[in-house]
Amino acid sequence: MTKGIQVAIDGPASAGKSTVAKLVAKRFNYVYCDTGAMYRVVTLAALRAGLTMDQADKIAELAKQIKIGFQPGEPEQRVFLNDDEVTQDIRTAQIDNNVSAVAAIPAVRAEMTNQQRQIAANGGIVMDGRDIGTTVLPNAPVKIFMVATAHERARRRYVENKEKGIATASLEDLQKEIELRDQKDSTRKVSPLTQAPDATRLDTTKLSIDEVVDAISEIIKKTQEQL
Ligand code: DC
Repeated sequence: MTKGIQVAIDGPASAGKSTVAKLVAKRFNYVYCDTGAMYRVVTLAALRAGLTMDQADKIAELAKQIKIGFQPGEPEQRVFLNDDEVTQDIRTAQIDNNVSAVAAIPAVRAEMTNQQRQIAANGGIVMDGRDIGTTVLPNAPVKIFMVATAHERARRRYVENKEKGIATASLEDLQKEIELRDQKDSTRKVSPLTQAPDATRLDTTKLSIDEVVDAISEIIKKTQEQL
């Protein structure tokens, strides 16, 4: 049996990373780690503690104290803040609107990066986020940078919200939110969203989920053969 490798999947908000990463992990029997969920848990913990987003030191301290947990689940992985399940609580508009500020705090990033490296240490992992190929796992043998137009990403998020019965903003407002988040994630000082030079760029605007999963699976298989 071939040893599991590290697969890093990065890209902007709503490019379909989580959906695809989860399916790729399933196909190879790898662990899946959604690093965006980790920043969301820290944001939720900060809001629950009554902190404001400018209290960087306090948020960083909290990030070290809390325990972030994952458990397999359908249709999505279950997420825990200490012993409390927060799978739904981290997907609200309030978290969407505050998470970029938390993810821009250097000490929070340092703590999350540490935890993510530990999770990925044994290989056999698909990790998705913004800085996995550039910062967290710079030696990952497979790096994918997934992109799609802001319009298409807003459309996907809109359909997903409707399907899940979540109150949704209009398509236009979703697109504006996505563009704003892209801008914040790409221009922050620490680990901004950028494509690693050795990453494969995959434009998913016109691809189905299965086509994206197949494309990434091919890259993983080829890489495994070469190792
Ligand atoms: O992928 P997502 O929407 O759940 O990510 C939530 C936020 O966390 C988003 O603003 C980008 C940030 N993030 C990050 O800075 N680094 C990561 N590795 C993952 C997410």
